[in-house]
Amino acid sequence: MLSLISPDLKKDAVELLTIPVCEDREIHTHRTVVALIRRAMKLPEFNGKKDETVMLYDPKGVAAERVMVQGIGKADKMNLETFRAAAGKAASKAMELNLASIWLAMPSAVKVDQDKTDLAAAILEGACLSNHLFDVYKKESAKKTLTDIGLATTAESAASMADLPEKVSVICRGTLLARDWVSTPSNDKTPDLLAGEMTRQAEAAGLKTAVMKDQELAEKNFGAIMAVARGSRNPPRLVTLIHEPKKAGRTVVLVGKGVTFDSGGINLKTSEGLKAMKSDMAGAAATAAALIAMARLKPKFRVVGVMPLVENMPSGDATRPGDVIRTYSGKTVEVGNTDAEGRLILADALAYAVAQYKPDLVIDMATLTGACLMALGEKIAGVFTGDDELASAIETAGEKTHERCWRMPLPDDYRELLKSDLADLNNMPKSRWGGAVSAALFLSEFVGAARWAHIDIAGPGYNRKKGPYCPVGGSGFGVRLLCETLEGMF
Ligand code: BES
Ligand code: ZN
Ligand code: ZN
Repeated sequence: MLSLISPDLKKDAVELLTIPVCEDREIHTHRTVVALIRRAMKLPEFNGKKDETVMLYDPKGVAAERVMVQGIGKADKMNLETFRAAAGKAASKAMELNLASIWLAMPSAVKVDQDKTDLAAAILEGACLSNHLFDVYKKESAKKTLTDIGLATTAESAASMADLPEKVSVICRGTLLARDWVSTPSNDKTPDLLAGEMTRQAEAAGLKTAVMKDQELAEKNFGAIMAVARGSRNPPRLVTLIHEPKKAGRTVVLVGKGVTFDSGGINLKTSEGLKAMKSDMAGAAATAAALIAMARLKPKFRVVGVMPLVENMPSGDATRPGDVIRTYSGKTVEVGNTDAEGRLILADALAYAVAQYKPDLVIDMATLTGACLMALGEKIAGVFTGDDELASAIETAGEKTHERCWRMPLPDDYRELLKSDLADLNNMPKSRWGGAVSAALFLSEFVGAARWAHIDIAGPGYNRKKGPYCPVGGSGFGVRLLCETLEGMF
């Protein structure tokens, strides 16, 4: 449980109190906290440098059993992520020590222009995101999660931010849900199983849900989804989740790529390429989890999530390279490469969502291209949109949440690369260069005139290296980004 507290540190006990300390500026004013920092600073091994920590046991004059003083480095390098990461490491440490509860000391003054609520939110987020285990596949779990996380601040601050812990908790629970879905192996998340999980959780949060099965998808001419799914024994599903407030004005549609395993199909991937392809549904996971979080945050506009779920496999019945398919929109596509399956299922999902819901805004999220991973690395998503305002709203949300985004171009003359001799489009671009851009341009052919952005999370959707508040596995990237982008949008 997350909470804001204002304890009497001299009398009130806790298993672990943590204090972030800056190397070259005093960022705490509470007398007891300042005294603890002085004590740590007297030790030769501690100077407040980034990643330095000291543990004080049974400190004099303080009721806490332990105090961890954490260095966070120089003041001019500090930002929200510094505090999020420090809180994440503190919670991990507490779990390592088998503790049940932790208090984090809230710094009083960090930067002149910094919002106190943003700072408190970042600290709570770091601790909450760290406080999670995905151990359902282990016979015995070595660790336990913490039962109580308290952000210690003044009584006035605690009162002025009373709603914050619940809000942070809802959004972080969404992120953790998306992480677990992505980390689940593909044998336990076939499209049918994943659709079941998504709708079960969504209904518990109060969303309306609908699942289209293969027969209905075929009848309704979702030709691209059916073509990608053909090679698998596990039939496709199209999940729709709807947040419908009483007097909804605008409508936002979120679309997420849900390839529960991407083998590449007949254009089979290499052994290296197959690694982590269980995570090719990270876009759908983030989208569904963001909707579940938003159902609890209750924005005043309608939000619709559309998640096409398929497994991309080779078989005697799989779609062949060179096949021509008719998509939901009526446009035909030559399947130049069966491994460019994400843009196919998104083509159907986007065209359907735009026709069905006439949205004021569409955002799709997808682990779409290796090229985006190549361009921006493992931690930054690519954003593609013709709308400057939307691009900057997403980038700003990315900075605040540290789910970083970088805008990429959508040059009209590159559309040339998607031409087919036989059909309206080819899913395989003519050039091997600029693959993230040509993929985004392909999607743009299916959104009509809708206000639209595409976010390629091929890099950050899966965490390949342990981070301060995220272990190896699904990252849940996109849930906080989408919630932050949409907050205050309409
Ligand atoms: N799922 C992959 C993209 C991907 C690669 C995501 C690595 C995460 C890590 C996608 O379906 C794919 O295979 N794209 C191809 C497209 C190409 C055949 C035009 C790619 O990026 O190579
Ligand atoms: Zn692929
Ligand atoms: Zn894929």
